[in-house]
Amino acid sequence: MNICCIGAGYVGGPTMAMIALKCPDIQVNVVDMNAARIAAWTSGNLPIYEPGLDDVVKQALGRNLHFSTDVAGQIKKADIIFVSVNTPTKTYGVGAGRAADLRFIESVARTIADQAESGKIIVEKSTIPVKTADAISAILAANTKGLKFQVLSNPEFLAEGTAVKDLMNPDRVLIGGERTPEGDQAVATLAGVYARWVPRDRIITTNLWSSELSKLVANAFLAQRISSINSISALCDATGADVDEVANAIGKDSRIGPKFLKASVGFGGSCFQKDILNLTYLCESFGLPEVAAFWNSVVTMNDWQKSRFAGRIVKELFNTVADKKIAVLGFAFKKDTNDTRESAAISVCRDLLAEHAKVCVYDPKVRAEEIKTDTLGKGAENPLLTIAKDAYEACAGAHAIAIVTEWDEFKTLDYAKIFAGMPKPALIFDGRNILDLAALRKIGFRASGVGKHD
Ligand SMILES: NC(=O)c1ccc[n+]([C@@H]2O[C@H](COP(=O)([O-])OP(=O)(O)OC[C@H]3O[C@@H](n4cnc5c(N)ncnc54)[C@H](O)[C@@H]3O)[C@@H](O)[C@H]2O)c1
Repeated sequence: MNICCIGAGYVGGPTMAMIALKCPDIQVNVVDMNAARIAAWTSGNLPIYEPGLDDVVKQALGRNLHFSTDVAGQIKKADIIFVSVNTPTKTYGVGAGRAADLRFIESVARTIADQAESGKIIVEKSTIPVKTADAISAILAANTKGLKFQVLSNPEFLAEGTAVKDLMNPDRVLIGGERTPEGDQAVATLAGVYARWVPRDRIITTNLWSSELSKLVANAFLAQRISSINSISALCDATGADVDEVANAIGKDSRIGPKFLKASVGFGGSCFQKDILNLTYLCESFGLPEVAAFWNSVVTMNDWQKSRFAGRIVKELFNTVADKKIAVLGFAFKKDTNDTRESAAISVCRDLLAEHAKVCVYDPKVRAEEIKTDTLGKGAENPLLTIAKDAYEACAGAHAIAIVTEWDEFKTLDYAKIFAGMPKPALIFDGRNILDLAALRKIGFRASGVGKHD
């Protein structure tokens, strides 16, 4: 069997590396139009950071895992084609700011229709609105060679930072297909690939639309839990309750459960906001404005939480941060990834720069150029934004420290040494609630968390 994956990003790369690792008899070809990205996958310096990924790639690379820019050639050879291209929020025209931009998906469908010389199974790996399979099928069916394609939905549930673990041992694999004999056969073929390492009872098969919708709903529910606990963190700040204590108390209820109840500066990442906006747009398109408004409030709460965090820093620094150095520790949207898409750090830095603070950022995995581009825009400069090579350099002489990403290394810094080098009163704002605030207060810090009191 020969598998091709179009899109060598955060999903395509790790997912295909895992399939290649677990199925040594299947040739897996990952293709992308971004030549630099393809080159990086084979360079020993992978384009994305994920714990354990280096090792998985190393084992399969050159054996049955290959990366190339030859999209047309690999389409011809493949029995199964995964489509794992980006589906960002549309920035123009109808649905701008909310609907998914499907131009990359459509262009891939057209390329497959043009290049294929035999019928194939096409797998939607990208997150897409319900009914996208209809559009892909229509484009493929318009091929002039009389070829037959089966379109399956197989959304990816991996979380960045734990992608290898999630792929190795997924909670479930979801495959949606047409309920026809040909559709069932295609579903069985794809299920057979995953069954090499995933227990059969974790491979769920559904109709196409249930599968497409489940991915959006999963992300909406996850983001909703974060916004729910973040809304309560504001009430904790107002009342003196401690949000971690509240989360612990409610999480013991088996109907609620303890996971995803960590209050923070807000969620980021390329998916949560995009997928909720996409869901709300779908609801409106189907005449369900009340449902759309319900889910939209999850994003509104998240935006408010991010600006509330920056606002609190300004307030605690006597309502002016102009010319004061503020150390921002962490820029990735979560720990153990170098991905900064929609990271809360971007809006925190922008808000502080708007107040003329001197913002000094340190992140263990994000490149300085990326931090500047994300915060200021491509090519723009602002002398108030600087990038440090370690946390100590970032904090030296700072009036306040903001923890924005929960990197483990921030838990074990020598805070007494850092405190000694800061103007007093020295502040620390833990936007991820990972530090021992009582210990920091003993050193002399004014220390606050999200929903945790001084
Ligand atoms: N990042 C995540 O954690 C995650 C998790 C689950 C699902 N998803 C979904 O998976 C999809 C991919 O996400 P990602 O984070 O991997 O995106 P990404 O931007 O990292 O990668 C997408 C890749 O597709 C390539 N591409 C686009 N059009 C192409 C074309 N016509 N031919 C060849 N290559 C093309 C781009 O060059 C890019 O390298 C999205 O729909 C996303 O919503 C992402």
